[in-house]
Amino acid sequence: MGEGKNLVGVDIGSSSIKVCQAKEGRRGLAVQRFGYEPLPPQAVVDGQVMEPSVVVETLKRVLAASKVRMKEAALSVSGQSVIIRKITVPVMTEAELAEQITWEAEQHIPFDIKDVQVDYQVLRRRPDASQMDLLLVAARKDQINEYAQLARDAKLKPVIVDIDAFTIQNAYEAMRGLSEQETVALINVGASLSSLNVLSGATSTFTREIASGGNIVTEEIQRQTGVPFEIAELYKAGESPDGGPIPPQVAGAIDQVVDSIAAEIQRSLDFFMATSGEGEVARAVLTGGTSNLVGLSAAIQRRARVPVEVWNPVQNCAVESGVDGVLLQRRGPQLAVALGLTLRRTREARS
Ligand SMILES: Nc1ncnc2c1ncn2[C@@H]1O[C@H](COP(=O)(O)OP(=O)(O)OP(=O)(O)O)[C@@H](O)[C@H]1O
Ligand SMILES: [Mg+2]
Repeated sequence: MGEGKNLVGVDIGSSSIKVCQAKEGRRGLAVQRFGYEPLPPQAVVDGQVMEPSVVVETLKRVLAASKVRMKEAALSVSGQSVIIRKITVPVMTEAELAEQITWEAEQHIPFDIKDVQVDYQVLRRRPDASQMDLLLVAARKDQINEYAQLARDAKLKPVIVDIDAFTIQNAYEAMRGLSEQETVALINVGASLSSLNVLSGATSTFTREIASGGNIVTEEIQRQTGVPFEIAELYKAGESPDGGPIPPQVAGAIDQVVDSIAAEIQRSLDFFMATSGEGEVARAVLTGGTSNLVGLSAAIQRRARVPVEVWNPVQNCAVESGVDGVLLQRRGPQLAVALGLTLRRTREARS
């Protein structure tokens, strides 16, 4: 791949916009550009864009500040408008499947089929049972179009729209590789949403979106200390506005809420293990901004009884000149989606 061929990965999250451009070089992956810009709390809520003009202005700012000149972009959607299901269908050829998929999707998707973009992947053929397993993905067209329009309004050319959970898988596969033998749970905990993606034998066999994340920790700190959102966010990260002491209630509030996020994740993992027949989850890998909360990995480990590793996706990345390596590492856990997106084209070219 020549220089600058990768797409710019654009992650419009509910707390912030992240952009990333990286390329595979001789010594592994190098980050060429990256940017981060917070969004005001009501601009994007649970994956829904409430204030498009604020998002576009913020996106333009982050692109300018990070000196991204590449126009072709990969975006990601998540939240309520995305449905991912593992389904079983009779064995058929690729051509038959392409014809049948709309009908099959209709049986499993709670939206009008005309309103969604459907995609699928064959997970496994089981000729003995005359069946095959598919991973079915559907995302609402209006949300895809809305995100694409935001990108166009910021002078980008959107060419790929992916799903958060899969972008994380893409980044993980590129940075760490996938094991045929192991079942690994990838967990991304953001501000308002979390995603779980269980990989068995290098394919995704279970994904779930959890409508919870770091915001509920911030809200609990606000409730217990009476400070506004921005200050509660600082307290949560172990900082204070004037360098003064952090109120003593903060630590307790964090522990309490972190445990409830861990409980949600445990419920999803338990559901996977009870229903999938794919065996035990060997370990979990945690990323996203809320993975910075030190108590979260311990709480998941305690509840789900699997080892949990906090993963900074850019940990082993080199940086090209002009990229602030220290800032990159600090923002690392929040960059998994944007990194997975920028890697889309190289990975496609490879496979
Ligand atoms: N050092 C830190 N300590 C604790 N929490 C942190 C830290 N840094 C970031 N966070 C939290 O991480 C969250 C943002 O993470 P991320 O950028 O992954 O979410 P997002 O993509 O904007 O949101 P979502 O995916 O939910 O729409 C916020 O709740 C923020 O408070
Ligand atoms: Mg996110």
